[in-house]
Amino acid sequence: MNGMTPVHQEPSTSAWSWPLVGRTEELNLISASIRRRPDGPAGMVLTGAAGVGKTRLAQEALTAAERRGALVRWVAGTASARTVPLGAFAATLRLAEPDPIRAVPRAVEELLADTRPAGVVVVVDDAHLLDELSAVLVHQLVLRKAASVLLTLRTGEPVPDAVTALWKDGHLPRLELEPLSCRQIAALVETRLGGPVDDAATQRLWSITRGNALYLRQLVDHELAADRLRESVGVWRWSGRPGLSPALLDLVSTRIGELPQRQLDVLDVLAFGGPLEVPLLAELTGACAMEEVEARGLIEVFPQGRRWQARLTDPMFGEVQRRRAGALYAQRLRRRIAAALSATGGRRADDALRRAVLLLDSGAQPEVALLTDAARRAVEVGDLALATRLARAAVSAGGGFEPRLLLGNALGWTGRMIEAGGEWAALRALARTDLQHAQAAMARAKVLAWAGRPAEAEAELAAAARTTSDESADLVLAGVRSVLDAHLGRTARAAEASAEVLSHPRCPAAAVPWASWGLAMASGGLGRLDDIEAALRRTDVGAPGVGLHERALVVVFATRGLLLAGLPDQADRIAQRFRGPCTESLGRPVDAFTSFMAAESATVRGQVETAARRYRQAVAAHREADANGWSFIALVGLTTALGMRGEPAPARRALLEMTAEHHPTCVYLAPDVLLARSWVVAAEGGVSEAAAVARQAAEVAASQGQSTVEVLALHTAVRFGDRTVADRLARLATEVDGPGARIAAAHARALAADDGPGLQAVSVRLEQLGALLVAVDAAAQAAGAHYRHHRHGSAQTATARARKLAQACEDARTPALAALTAPPELTRRQHEILTLVAGGLSNADIAQRLFVSVRTVENHLYRVSTKLGISNRAELAALIDDAGAPERSGN
Ligand SMILES: Nc1ncnc2c1ncn2[C@@H]1O[C@H](COP(=O)(O)OP(=O)(O)OP(=O)(O)O)[C@@H](O)[C@H]1O
Ligand SMILES: [Mg+2]
Repeated sequence: MNGMTPVHQEPSTSAWSWPLVGRTEELNLISASIRRRPDGPAGMVLTGAAGVGKTRLAQEALTAAERRGALVRWVAGTASARTVPLGAFAATLRLAEPDPIRAVPRAVEELLADTRPAGVVVVVDDAHLLDELSAVLVHQLVLRKAASVLLTLRTGEPVPDAVTALWKDGHLPRLELEPLSCRQIAALVETRLGGPVDDAATQRLWSITRGNALYLRQLVDHELAADRLRESVGVWRWSGRPGLSPALLDLVSTRIGELPQRQLDVLDVLAFGGPLEVPLLAELTGACAMEEVEARGLIEVFPQGRRWQARLTDPMFGEVQRRRAGALYAQRLRRRIAAALSATGGRRADDALRRAVLLLDSGAQPEVALLTDAARRAVEVGDLALATRLARAAVSAGGGFEPRLLLGNALGWTGRMIEAGGEWAALRALARTDLQHAQAAMARAKVLAWAGRPAEAEAELAAAARTTSDESADLVLAGVRSVLDAHLGRTARAAEASAEVLSHPRCPAAAVPWASWGLAMASGGLGRLDDIEAALRRTDVGAPGVGLHERALVVVFATRGLLLAGLPDQADRIAQRFRGPCTESLGRPVDAFTSFMAAESATVRGQVETAARRYRQAVAAHREADANGWSFIALVGLTTALGMRGEPAPARRALLEMTAEHHPTCVYLAPDVLLARSWVVAAEGGVSEAAAVARQAAEVAASQGQSTVEVLALHTAVRFGDRTVADRLARLATEVDGPGARIAAAHARALAADDGPGLQAVSVRLEQLGALLVAVDAAAQAAGAHYRHHRHGSAQTATARARKLAQACEDARTPALAALTAPPELTRRQHEILTLVAGGLSNADIAQRLFVSVRTVENHLYRVSTKLGISNRAELAALIDDAGAPERSGN
């Protein structure tokens, strides 16, 4: 830059390490406005809230102008320079003109002295802070059309008249800079962190920062430093409550502004007790104060059921107010809110919960009954950490069996097995009735089962069953046993027992979640849609005694069953319906389960990248929250998705992790584990081995009575080119509900008959179903069949179809798809051997992998060489690399 150097005013030193996100449209508008034009230069007034990104955008526009060859100058208004006439320009001009009347024209001359063909661009950052004379100078610059002027103004600040006149009188257009969108916030955070961010974290960051870039940076940097924003299995998660750095405190306090005490009271009440019903808040703080604060945009009201609730518009306001409050004041306030809640008679289901928490936090000693009710409610809404705290308080206040049972459950669900064990021991001593004995035994069995000790769990249940004579207790025990049976791969038995419990005329509420869970699992494996439906119905929203966590488990297995039956749309609808109340509930959203369900659906739909991402989120969330085998379950899915992406190295790593976390109680997943392995082997190029492993998975599924899983496994073998399983699939198609098995059978039949049109028809049906990647494979196989029957036109159509569908599959690369792009002269075996050559394997390795002699491998390679006129190994390998790789988009 010549002569004068722009003064960069940046709020923080590391600012430029964040790459610009979004804002393309705005930048284009600004660039167009500051470009030199026939009737003279122009410019723009850029306005927006504090920290929204005005300075940054002006800087970007200036850099672009400079690149175009314009002479650029940067001037900034500051509070300190404001007291000096022309202070803003002091750093930029050599000006030594004492007479203010002559100073302005002299300054204009000096600024414009060095003109260039591309013109002069002057940025005036924070023009609201200009002194009067500087404002006049800027006004002159614009009117004389000798330079393009870009001004930034912070919304809501008083602005010198000469500046206001610029856009009021129509000299310059004005652009109001909107906050970044949720998507842009996500992109910004991901570029800063260098990896994918958990959806829940993005959502929270968005809801706190409302698209304010400065706010976001402060928050992210602070949370990183505090180690609350952490990476786990490749996903960034944000846990705990956001803290307030001094800079952040400043920012948020500025947004709250100076308020009279009565308005601060409203914020305080909501900071400690919110959200609250509007009449209750009005009673505590006065209706007028409440309305004033709402008008300032600090609180908002929203409907919940038929009642209106009030809450702070930014959760950070609560942080600020809580930090400002002294301990004694906070205690008194909490007690006041709790008393008001209790006076209104606890209309809402959550009132007991809030009251108990407020009282505990205020140092009071709530009654055992209130604490127990509250703990039960906390379990219901899925906040197990809170449930633990409340139940523990109830126990130490002298509570007996009930709070201890809740405490043991909450500890068990969150994987704190040793502590839970202590509670179970105490429970046994406290149990008086048969039902209580059964409940104590079940609780212990559950812990044992999820600690990976299923045999001991079964023994515990059996012992309990022998000692009770109570009908309710028996039914609850049978429900629990059905869940364990389903996990241990005794599908038929689990289905029968759970259905029996649920249809019993005196089925106790305590048995319903268990039996429904067992039924959902077993009927998914058996392919009985009616029973899946029944399990969902019994645990639907509002069913008494069914916690969010329990409903989550039923929904997770119901969606698994629906996906296995080939009904992804229905599965998504049910997952969606479940997600609704989760986000509303005041407890921990069961986001790990919703991530998991999204991942399962994405896998079926062939969105392998999305699936891998969601599985990673589920693994990370489960590792953090509980240890009931769910990170293993999600790892099985992750391995499969990575295998389908055709990425051998990450898939193999996931496979190792999956194996290391193997959970002994999840026997029902044994076929899925084998299928995951088959996809990894396929990604490594061993297609025939992959098919063999898939067939093995089918055998295991059959031995467990999981017919739908057997269908999936056999269908997977078909996708790997297996032509031997059509009969078995045809039989299974008559045994299970849903379209999935019928299409799989048709697929197997068409492949076995080398029937191109048949495969194509199957591909169309699969696409209609939403199973896009399977549709890709069927189309790719159709192309091969057409080619072998010398129908080259049809082969091309099928190839085009496979490629087009594959575009929606996020870079998936299955063996069938890879074969599509290989030279058509190759046999399947030859293609497989070349793929392994391309993977860097020696002939001996290949021979071992394919269970053939080295000699056979050499023969195949020799024949390929002569057929294609290629002699060296690197070229042979390149054949596969080039053929398989072209559509990949870089990652
Ligand atoms: N689109 C964006 N992409 C990346 N970073 C951004 C973006 N917008 C703003 N930032 C960053 O956010 C921070 C705040 O932005 P900036 O200083 O431009 O805000 P401002 O609107 O000028 O605020 P103020 O009113 O306080 O002057 C800066 O560090 C900036 O680099
Ligand atoms: Mg700025």
